[in-house]
Amino acid sequence: MNINLSSVGMEKGRQYETIITTISSEGKKNAAPIGVICTGKDTVICRIFKGSTTLENIISQREFIVNITENPQLFTLATIDNIPENNFDENNSIKNIESYFKCEVKDLIEAIKKSDPVKKDSEAIVIKAKVTEHVINKNIKAINRAMGLLIETLVNFTRIDIVDDKQKEYYLGRFQEAKRVINKVGSKEEQKSINRIKKELIKKGYSP
Ligand SMILES: Cc1cc2nc3c(=O)[nH]c(=O)nc-3n(C[C@H](O)[C@H](O)[C@H](O)COP(=O)(O)O)c2cc1C
Repeated sequence: MNINLSSVGMEKGRQYETIITTISSEGKKNAAPIGVICTGKDTVICRIFKGSTTLENIISQREFIVNITENPQLFTLATIDNIPENNFDENNSIKNIESYFKCEVKDLIEAIKKSDPVKKDSEAIVIKAKVTEHVINKNIKAINRAMGLLIETLVNFTRIDIVDDKQKEYYLGRFQEAKRVINKVGSKEEQKSINRIKKELIKKGYSP
Protein backbone atom coordinates (compact mmCIF):
# COMPACT_ATOMS: atom_id res chain seq x y z
CA MET A 1 0.00 0.00 0.00
CA ASN A 2 1.37 3.38 -1.04
CA ILE A 3 1.04 5.51 2.10
CA ASN A 4 1.76 9.22 2.20
CA LEU A 5 0.59 11.17 5.25
CA SER A 6 0.78 14.43 3.29
CA SER A 7 -2.57 13.31 1.81
CA VAL A 8 -4.12 14.42 5.14
CA GLY A 9 -1.90 17.51 5.38
CA MET A 10 0.73 15.96 7.67
CA GLU A 11 4.22 17.36 7.02
CA LYS A 12 7.45 15.86 8.27
CA GLY A 13 8.56 17.33 11.61
CA ARG A 14 5.22 18.84 12.57
CA GLN A 15 2.72 17.84 15.26
CA TYR A 16 -0.99 17.28 14.70
CA GLU A 17 -3.87 16.70 17.13
CA THR A 18 -5.60 13.38 16.58
CA ILE A 19 -7.71 10.83 18.43
CA ILE A 20 -5.87 7.59 19.08
CA THR A 21 -8.00 4.49 19.50
CA THR A 22 -6.61 1.39 21.16
CA ILE A 23 -7.84 -1.90 22.55
CA SER A 24 -6.91 -3.55 25.85
CA SER A 25 -5.84 -7.18 26.27
CA GLU A 26 -9.40 -7.82 27.58
CA GLY A 27 -10.86 -6.31 24.37
CA LYS A 28 -12.03 -2.98 25.85
CA LYS A 29 -11.90 -0.12 23.35
CA ASN A 30 -10.47 3.27 24.28
CA ALA A 31 -10.12 6.69 22.66
CA ALA A 32 -7.98 9.67 23.69
CA PRO A 33 -6.77 12.85 21.98
CA ILE A 34 -3.02 12.62 21.40
CA GLY A 35 -0.53 14.79 19.53
CA VAL A 36 1.13 12.86 16.70
CA ILE A 37 4.36 14.03 15.06
CA CYS A 38 4.82 13.08 11.42
CA THR A 39 8.39 11.83 10.91
CA GLY A 40 8.12 10.67 7.30
CA LYS A 41 5.56 9.71 4.67
CA ASP A 42 4.58 6.57 6.61
CA THR A 43 6.12 7.05 10.05
CA VAL A 44 5.00 8.90 13.20
CA ILE A 45 6.01 9.35 16.79
CA CYS A 46 3.96 10.30 19.82
CA ARG A 47 4.85 10.92 23.43
CA ILE A 48 2.38 9.66 25.98
CA PHE A 49 2.52 10.23 29.73
CA LYS A 50 2.64 7.19 31.94
CA GLY A 51 -0.66 6.30 33.61
CA SER A 52 -2.92 6.62 30.57
CA THR A 53 -4.98 3.75 29.24
CA THR A 54 -3.77 4.58 25.71
CA LEU A 55 -0.14 3.99 26.67
CA GLU A 56 -0.96 0.77 28.53
CA ASN A 57 -2.85 -0.56 25.49
CA ILE A 58 -0.14 0.47 23.02
CA ILE A 59 2.52 -1.30 25.10
CA SER A 60 0.46 -4.49 25.39
CA GLN A 61 -0.90 -4.62 21.80
CA ARG A 62 2.02 -2.98 19.92
CA GLU A 63 -0.51 -1.30 17.60
CA PHE A 64 -2.93 1.63 17.57
CA ILE A 65 -5.15 3.65 15.25
CA VAL A 66 -4.77 7.37 14.58
CA ASN A 67 -8.12 8.97 13.73
CA ILE A 68 -8.02 12.28 11.83
CA THR A 69 -11.07 14.45 12.47
CA GLU A 70 -12.25 18.01 12.95
CA ASN A 71 -15.27 16.90 14.99
CA PRO A 72 -15.27 18.97 18.23
CA GLN A 73 -17.63 16.60 20.04
CA LEU A 74 -15.41 13.59 19.41
CA PHE A 75 -12.39 15.45 20.81
CA THR A 76 -14.44 16.54 23.85
CA LEU A 77 -15.94 13.12 24.54
CA ALA A 78 -12.58 11.40 24.14
CA THR A 79 -11.00 13.86 26.61
CA ILE A 80 -13.66 14.05 29.31
CA ASP A 81 -15.16 10.58 29.09
CA ASN A 82 -14.70 7.91 26.44
CA ILE A 83 -16.27 7.49 23.04
CA PRO A 84 -19.20 5.01 23.46
CA GLU A 85 -18.40 1.42 22.47
CA ASN A 86 -20.96 1.48 19.61
CA ASN A 87 -19.11 4.42 18.01
CA PHE A 88 -16.12 2.18 17.27
CA ASP A 89 -15.91 0.20 14.06
CA GLU A 90 -15.02 -3.50 14.11
CA ASN A 91 -11.43 -2.64 13.18
CA ASN A 92 -11.31 -0.23 16.18
CA SER A 93 -11.31 3.02 14.19
CA ILE A 94 -14.07 5.53 15.01
CA LYS A 95 -17.23 4.96 12.93
CA ASN A 96 -17.64 7.36 9.98
CA ILE A 97 -14.37 9.12 10.75
CA GLU A 98 -12.99 11.37 8.02
CA SER A 99 -9.69 9.43 7.90
CA TYR A 100 -7.71 6.96 9.97
CA PHE A 101 -4.43 5.11 9.81
CA LYS A 102 -3.21 1.95 11.52
CA CYS A 103 0.16 2.03 13.23
CA GLU A 104 2.52 -0.75 14.21
CA VAL A 105 4.92 0.00 17.09
CA LYS A 106 8.59 -0.10 16.10
CA ASP A 107 10.18 1.24 19.27
CA LEU A 108 9.29 2.40 22.78
CA ILE A 109 11.67 4.82 24.48
CA GLU A 110 11.57 6.12 28.06
CA ALA A 111 11.43 9.93 28.18
CA ILE A 112 11.32 12.68 30.74
CA LYS A 113 10.14 15.96 29.33
CA LYS A 114 11.07 19.08 31.25
CA SER A 115 9.78 21.86 29.00
CA ASP A 116 6.06 21.11 29.18
CA PRO A 117 3.87 23.07 31.59
CA VAL A 118 3.04 19.87 33.43
CA LYS A 119 4.46 18.38 36.63
CA LYS A 120 8.25 18.57 36.69
CA ASP A 121 10.01 15.47 35.40
CA SER A 122 6.78 13.80 34.25
CA GLU A 123 7.55 10.39 32.88
CA ALA A 124 6.45 9.53 29.41
CA ILE A 125 7.15 7.03 26.66
CA VAL A 126 8.03 8.03 23.12
CA ILE A 127 6.42 5.66 20.65
CA LYS A 128 7.92 5.26 17.19
CA ALA A 129 5.53 3.66 14.74
CA LYS A 130 5.07 2.71 11.10
CA VAL A 131 1.79 3.27 9.27
CA THR A 132 0.56 0.01 7.74
CA GLU A 133 -2.80 1.10 6.32
CA HIS A 134 -4.41 4.49 5.60
CA VAL A 135 -8.10 5.05 4.87
CA ILE A 136 -9.45 8.41 3.66
CA ASN A 137 -13.26 8.63 3.68
CA LYS A 138 -13.46 12.40 3.29
CA ASN A 139 -11.12 15.19 2.31
CA ILE A 140 -9.52 16.33 5.61
CA LYS A 141 -6.43 18.07 6.94
CA ALA A 142 -5.13 16.98 10.35
CA ILE A 143 -5.53 19.67 13.03
CA ASN A 144 -2.50 21.72 14.01
CA ARG A 145 -2.81 24.09 16.99
CA ALA A 146 -0.66 26.94 15.70
CA MET A 147 -2.94 28.89 13.35
CA GLY A 148 -5.83 29.21 15.82
CA LEU A 149 -3.40 30.42 18.49
CA LEU A 150 -1.86 32.93 16.10
CA ILE A 151 -5.29 34.39 15.25
CA GLU A 152 -6.19 34.61 18.98
CA THR A 153 -2.88 36.37 19.64
CA LEU A 154 -3.56 38.86 16.82
CA VAL A 155 -7.03 39.61 18.22
CA ASN A 156 -5.52 40.27 21.66
CA PHE A 157 -2.80 42.40 20.03
CA THR A 158 -5.45 44.71 18.54
CA ARG A 159 -7.04 45.12 21.99
CA ILE A 160 -4.09 45.34 24.35
CA ASP A 161 -3.85 49.16 24.27
CA ILE A 162 -7.51 49.67 25.13
CA VAL A 163 -7.93 47.32 28.12
CA ASP A 164 -7.13 47.79 31.83
CA ASP A 165 -3.83 46.69 33.42
CA LYS A 166 -5.19 43.39 34.70
CA GLN A 167 -6.37 42.45 31.21
CA LYS A 168 -3.03 43.60 29.68
CA GLU A 169 -1.22 41.16 32.04
CA TYR A 170 -3.64 38.43 31.05
CA TYR A 171 -3.01 39.05 27.33
CA LEU A 172 0.78 39.01 27.89
CA GLY A 173 0.48 35.65 29.69
CA ARG A 174 -1.62 34.33 26.81
CA PHE A 175 0.98 35.66 24.36
CA GLN A 176 3.78 33.76 26.12
CA GLU A 177 1.85 30.51 26.08
CA ALA A 178 0.88 30.97 22.41
CA LYS A 179 4.53 31.65 21.53
CA ARG A 180 5.65 28.49 23.36
CA VAL A 181 3.13 26.32 21.51
CA ILE A 182 3.66 27.96 18.10
CA ASN A 183 7.42 27.48 18.40
CA LYS A 184 6.77 23.83 19.20
CA VAL A 185 4.10 22.89 16.64
CA GLY A 186 3.88 25.76 14.15
CA SER A 187 5.26 26.21 10.65
CA LYS A 188 8.20 28.54 9.93
CA GLU A 189 5.71 31.21 8.75
CA GLU A 190 3.68 30.93 11.97
CA GLN A 191 6.88 31.15 14.05
CA LYS A 192 8.02 34.23 12.11
CA SER A 193 4.61 35.81 12.67
CA ILE A 194 4.61 35.30 16.46
CA ASN A 195 8.14 36.76 16.64
CA ARG A 196 6.97 39.79 14.65
CA ILE A 197 4.10 40.30 17.14
CA LYS A 198 6.63 40.06 20.00
CA LYS A 199 8.72 42.83 18.41
CA GLU A 200 5.64 45.03 17.98
CA LEU A 201 4.65 44.48 21.63
CA ILE A 202 8.16 45.51 22.73
CA LYS A 203 7.93 48.64 20.52
CA LYS A 204 4.71 49.52 22.32
CA GLY A 205 6.52 49.26 25.67
CA TYR A 206 5.26 45.85 26.84
CA SER A 207 7.51 43.04 28.11
CA PRO A 208 6.17 39.91 26.42
C1 LIG B 1 -5.73 17.92 21.92
C2 LIG B 1 -5.10 17.05 22.99
C3 LIG B 1 -3.86 16.49 22.76
C4 LIG B 1 -3.24 15.67 23.71
N1 LIG B 1 -2.02 15.14 23.46
C5 LIG B 1 -1.44 14.32 24.37
C6 LIG B 1 -0.16 13.74 24.10
O1 LIG B 1 0.46 13.96 23.05
N2 LIG B 1 0.36 12.91 25.05
C7 LIG B 1 -0.30 12.63 26.23
O2 LIG B 1 0.23 11.87 27.05
N3 LIG B 1 -1.51 13.17 26.49
C8 LIG B 1 -2.11 14.00 25.60
N4 LIG B 1 -3.33 14.54 25.85
C9 LIG B 1 -4.00 14.20 27.11
C10 LIG B 1 -4.71 12.85 27.03
O3 LIG B 1 -5.66 12.83 25.98
C11 LIG B 1 -5.44 12.61 28.37
O4 LIG B 1 -4.48 12.44 29.38
C12 LIG B 1 -6.40 11.46 28.34
O5 LIG B 1 -7.15 11.52 29.51
C13 LIG B 1 -5.75 10.08 28.27
O6 LIG B 1 -6.82 9.15 28.22
P1 LIG B 1 -6.68 7.58 28.40
O7 LIG B 1 -6.29 7.34 29.85
O8 LIG B 1 -8.04 7.08 28.05
O9 LIG B 1 -5.62 7.13 27.46
C14 LIG B 1 -3.92 15.40 24.93
C15 LIG B 1 -5.18 15.97 25.16
C16 LIG B 1 -5.75 16.79 24.21
C17 LIG B 1 -7.11 17.39 24.48
